[in-house]
Amino acid sequence: MKKRVLVAGGAGFIGSHLCEVLLENNCTVCCIDNLYTGRMENIRHLISNPDFEFINHDVIYPFEKEVDQIFNLASPASPVYYQIDPVRTWKTNTIGSMNMLELARKNKARIFQSSTSEVYGDPDIHPQPEEYRGNVNPIGLRACYDEGKRAAETLFFDYHRMYGIEIKVVRIFNTYGPRMFPEDGRVISNFIIEALRDRPLKVYGDGSQTRSFCFVDDMIRGFMKMMNSPATITGPINLGNPCELTIFQVAELIIDMCNSNSTIDFRELPEDDPRKRKPDITKAKTLLGWQPEVDFEKGLMKAINYFDNLLAGERKEKEPVENVLLINDPCLKNNLKINEFDTIQKNYI
Ligand SMILES: NC(=O)c1ccc[n+]([C@@H]2O[C@H](COP(=O)([O-])OP(=O)(O)OC[C@H]3O[C@@H](n4cnc5c(N)ncnc54)[C@H](O)[C@@H]3O)[C@@H](O)[C@H]2O)c1
Repeated sequence: MKKRVLVAGGAGFIGSHLCEVLLENNCTVCCIDNLYTGRMENIRHLISNPDFEFINHDVIYPFEKEVDQIFNLASPASPVYYQIDPVRTWKTNTIGSMNMLELARKNKARIFQSSTSEVYGDPDIHPQPEEYRGNVNPIGLRACYDEGKRAAETLFFDYHRMYGIEIKVVRIFNTYGPRMFPEDGRVISNFIIEALRDRPLKVYGDGSQTRSFCFVDDMIRGFMKMMNSPATITGPINLGNPCELTIFQVAELIIDMCNSNSTIDFRELPEDDPRKRKPDITKAKTLLGWQPEVDFEKGLMKAINYFDNLLAGERKEKEPVENVLLINDPCLKNNLKINEFDTIQKNYI
């Protein structure tokens, strides 16, 4: 019998790749998503598959379904979006996680949580091992997400201790690749889009802050290894690429790879922007036998090709992209055209 897998947040960037891989692995997939930051385009190619089902559902409300495994990815992931309605972000990560845990309890299903490197805040230990408890500002603008994800981890471990649920918690570090939402303000997508348009790349601070980037295929391989690992492995386990680059290096590489005439425009650093971010992946290597395999330039090329195709219409028809891509936010009275977000957009990652 096929494994019945629920993916909460499956219409998003990482979730849509996960749904694909699960179907390839002979599972039936139920994707639930409220399309807050996810898009139907990401999963349209899966809709005709009889093993795939999409249900428009907000995890803030309880959900009933017979399932064997649950992946909980439901949460806006970029500051531009999670800061639009911080209370809702908090609810998604706490009440939403609890609803998914209740579903796991009823079904005796194994449940996976996509936590984040943001639980380490602005770290004073580098690289960050799982034992590091973090340096998060609980009242800052990013706290709705950072503390929401920390609270979700607490809930997962309490459900595990109280009800014996099999939990799998991973802390995801920056991930990139095709299907990233073009205007959600993440550094890789921002830089590629500006470079493809020959517009200046906005670098916040002096560009010496470092980040490490993991290609989405590597990340999904890590998810699958974690979900299928022995029950004793609960996590949290870091998943990410330890190869560290400065933001300035990333900007220069993208300009070069896009054959762009863009320049670099230095701006003021936003509040609570971490100076350094790099995973210690010793646990992932030893417990899961996982490490990233995709070379940064190769992964970047795939992402560049994706955005190049997306912008092709804009160039061909000389139609501004804001007429084509809308921010799909059921919370806002009207869908906003993407450029209306320019005022709050930052190179957040
Ligand atoms: N991409 C990264 O670099 C990264 C890093 C760390 C953690 N993560 C985590 O991985 C997960 C997926 O991230 P992503 O990059 O694919 O982001 P994404 O925004 O593309 O995907 C998140 C999905 O969750 C859905 N969602 C949000 N709130 C919901 C709600 N209340 N009910 C139902 N669905 C809801 C969105 O519509 C979207 O489809 C998130 O939990 C995120 O916090 C991602």
